[in-house]
Amino acid sequence: SKFIGVLTSGGDCPGLNAAIRGLVRAGQNQYDMQFVGFLDGFRGMAQDRTLELNRKTLSGILVDGGTILGTSRDTPARTREMTDEIVATYNRHHLDALVCLGGDGTHKNAMRLKEAGLNVVTMPKTIDNDIACTDVTFGFNTALGIATEAIDRLHSTATSHHRVMVVEIMGNSAGWLTLGAGIAGGADVILLPEIPYDVNMISAAIKRRARAGKRFSIVAVAEGAITKEDAKVVAELKKQLAATEGEQERDQLEEKIRRLEGARVGHSVKLTQEIEEITGQESRLTILGHLQRGGTPSSFDRLLATRLGTACARMIHEEKFGNMVAVKGQEIVPVAIEEVANTTNRVPVDHAWVETARLVGTSFGDQ
Ligand code: F6P
Repeated sequence: SKFIGVLTSGGDCPGLNAAIRGLVRAGQNQYDMQFVGFLDGFRGMAQDRTLELNRKTLSGILVDGGTILGTSRDTPARTREMTDEIVATYNRHHLDALVCLGGDGTHKNAMRLKEAGLNVVTMPKTIDNDIACTDVTFGFNTALGIATEAIDRLHSTATSHHRVMVVEIMGNSAGWLTLGAGIAGGADVILLPEIPYDVNMISAAIKRRARAGKRFSIVAVAEGAITKEDAKVVAELKKQLAATEGEQERDQLEEKIRRLEGARVGHSVKLTQEIEEITGQESRLTILGHLQRGGTPSSFDRLLATRLGTACARMIHEEKFGNMVAVKGQEIVPVAIEEVANTTNRVPVDHAWVETARLVGTSFGDQ
């Protein structure tokens, strides 16, 4: 029989519990495996804090949001410091494999543990859908539903008060959630990190609608959306970064870049004020925040997480270690963790969803 450790790391998302349940049930029922859960991600494993994964602890969790194991965010640098402790815990429990459920950061951390000689297998979870080498991640569909419902509800006030309703949607440096919910909810303007915007172009689109008799507009803005101006500055800073060697100077440049791109607090406030000033139309901002990560997973995510969990048990049984279980069309396939760890899946500017949105008349604030 094989002994398997399990942990969840990074931001929680709907479907984590369904994935844990799928993994443990398939492992116990089909492959004679035993499981131990580590609490609060890599940190908890380093400290050897555990939760027994058995029929009792798994009972009823399929429909629960969050993670029964708890989670934490640890940077790859922090995990490097903890690697020896994590390896010691792995050996102390005589583990045959460690399953890490997580997103971008988790894959970087998992790669380090793979390099340290552990048998690691990962599962792609995040509401952002930004993990490379898989068609989709679990958590995304649920968050998409919540963001779409929010846009639907904002339409009431938008039409009744003839307002511009700006809604900020999560996604880190990827625009998948905003794009998907924007299209599904019929947003008039969609602003993505991948397509830099000009507030004058957004305002022009809103004014065009007003002239055509539509006295309200919905603007779906990704938390990582960026202006054309800032995008130019970032491109310049990145050039400087590539040519800089000193650690302190690199840190300073990276900090400047971080302030301008990716998920940032406050930029939608400024954007909403500017839209109100330029269009003369009353404007309001709603930031959905962590509402998008909470609550019960959609049926799509329960199904996907259960498929990934069970496929993960099979992969361990077949000793295909060092891989992530990825979705490719109708199949679930192994992909080497190092392939996943160094790439982010962002929206290509010519993606079919972008084209679809443009065809129904949505403005991206770029032309
Ligand atoms: O990765 C999921 C996510 O919700 C992102 O969309 C967002 O940028 C980030 O996590 C927020 O992180 P935290 O919960 O640590 O504030």
